[in-house]
Amino acid sequence: MASRVAVVGAGPCGLAQLHAFEEARRGGAEVPQVTCFEQQGDWGGLWNYTWRTGLDEHGDPVHGSMYRSLWSNGPKECLEFADYTFDEHFGRPVASFPPRAVLRDYITGRAGKGGVRRLIQFGTAVRWVRYDRGAGKFAVTVQARDGGRARTEDFDQVIVATGHFSTPDVPSFGGFGQFPGRILHSHDFRDAREFAGQRLLVIGSSYSAEDIALQAAKYGAASVTISYRTAPMGFGWPAGIEEVPLLSRVEGRTAHFAGGAAREVDAIVLCTGYRHSFRFLAEELRLRTPNVLYPAGLYKGIFWLANPALMYLGMQDQYYTFTMFDAQAWYARDYVLGRISLPPPREMAADIARWRGRLAACAGPADEIDFQASYLADLNKQVDYPGYDLDLTRAHFKDWEHDKMTSITGYRDRSFSSPCTGTTAPPRHTPWWHELDDSADTFLGHQA
Ligand SMILES: Cc1cc2nc3c(=O)[nH]c(=O)nc-3n(C[C@H](O)[C@H](O)[C@H](O)COP(=O)(O)OP(=O)(O)OC[C@H]3O[C@@H](n4cnc5c(N)ncnc54)[C@H](O)[C@@H]3O)c2cc1C
Ligand SMILES: NC(=O)c1ccc[n+]([C@@H]2O[C@H](COP(=O)([O-])OP(=O)(O)OC[C@H]3O[C@@H](n4cnc5c(N)ncnc54)[C@H](OP(=O)(O)O)[C@@H]3O)[C@@H](O)[C@H]2O)c1
Repeated sequence: MASRVAVVGAGPCGLAQLHAFEEARRGGAEVPQVTCFEQQGDWGGLWNYTWRTGLDEHGDPVHGSMYRSLWSNGPKECLEFADYTFDEHFGRPVASFPPRAVLRDYITGRAGKGGVRRLIQFGTAVRWVRYDRGAGKFAVTVQARDGGRARTEDFDQVIVATGHFSTPDVPSFGGFGQFPGRILHSHDFRDAREFAGQRLLVIGSSYSAEDIALQAAKYGAASVTISYRTAPMGFGWPAGIEEVPLLSRVEGRTAHFAGGAAREVDAIVLCTGYRHSFRFLAEELRLRTPNVLYPAGLYKGIFWLANPALMYLGMQDQYYTFTMFDAQAWYARDYVLGRISLPPPREMAADIARWRGRLAACAGPADEIDFQASYLADLNKQVDYPGYDLDLTRAHFKDWEHDKMTSITGYRDRSFSSPCTGTTAPPRHTPWWHELDDSADTFLGHQA
């Protein structure tokens, strides 16, 4: 019987995996039977905006963490598919920082062109995966979410592509129980307009904190106070946004911070990150890691050391996104196809330790960008993913970091060149800080 591969999730990672197999099949390779299970009714993963929070229509936790008015926070040129460029998708160059709907269209555009939809069972959640050592197979229990009965199927390999920015990490602070306003995690943040006229407290000092603070100010919050635990972001914030040390407690509407400062606040958004959560995996298969650039336990950042027939995609913290997912998907595919063989466990463990040692020596974002770029290069050199100028994307990321320090409200107005076509993106029609409409029509209609 033909071997079977299960892909869990049809977000950017899962779609990259299906596309990689499909490309090999088109190239004449004998490909195993690939089945993707996606709990949502459509593909695109986090890029599918939902107004829902809490539980979804079937009583499961809502996967989506994206919100209205979310624009790409990195240059699109740094995530461009080498085999499906932005110029090809849009038929012309488009600006470097598109809104969510435009990036979703791009991701699903390649998947549509590649014809992988037929491989996906939508509205089907993977409920449990265990490994049967005797049979040498995974037993994968899935359930149609419209009340369908669970069924279990056997697979030779399982590829987990369920993302890691959906299960919120939610700390508590003294006085939260009595706070008279709204307290939410960024996972449940949907529209900055909700906070117009309010004094907002944002806790955290990473991408969500940065972007939600800016969104809130842009859409009319009276003030935004950002409270950091380790270090402030240190950007030149526009009037109305300030950074203060960690919240110690709230008393009524008064927020008290380490060092003695206090501010009156009306609502609190916890931008405190996410947990890697795999409740559908048996204990011994479950990756446990904080959000880091090289999780322990994954050879090449993909293969579960204890059982490499289980693969994970996209579990790293991410400078690189779609191109990293492609590199991983091509590599995982070539392992499944027998084109790449893995070394003995001891060598795999030593390789992971080497990468993690190198990560530990990184001194800041520039080193981290180089680190992740070398990780991509290491994977790409062993697969037939089309060539592109990875060094240019490294330089772009460093320019982008610099741009953010120069102007946190203006960095999305910069233009970058494509590592695939060389095209330089046209400028935005309207400065991002003044652009309130995040629709694809407006973005694309505004191109010069
Ligand atoms: C607020 C926010 C903003 C972001 N902005 C950017 C950005 O601007 N640029 C960028 O490049 N990246 C951004 N990211 C990073 C984002 O993680 C990646 O772009 C990308 O979505 C990751 O793809 P993925 O396939 O790993 O995960 P996801 O996109 O999360 O997709 C996982 C899929 O798996 C499905 N799934 C989960 N569990 C199961 C199950 N048990 N059974 C069946 N299906 C399941 C989900 O329904 C989902 O469709 C952002 C992330 C967040 C949270
Ligand atoms: N397109 C966009 O504009 C956009 C917007 C939002 C998010 N994103 C993406 O979403 C992903 C997740 O970003 P994220 O910012 O949500 O998570 P993150 O990068 O993991 O950052 C988590 C933050 O929470 C802080 N934190 C955790 N526990 C805390 C506690 N108990 N008290 C105070 N602070 C605490 C951390 O502080 P320490 O530094 O002290 O650990 C850190 O600053 C990223 O890939 C990002 O690119 C993109």
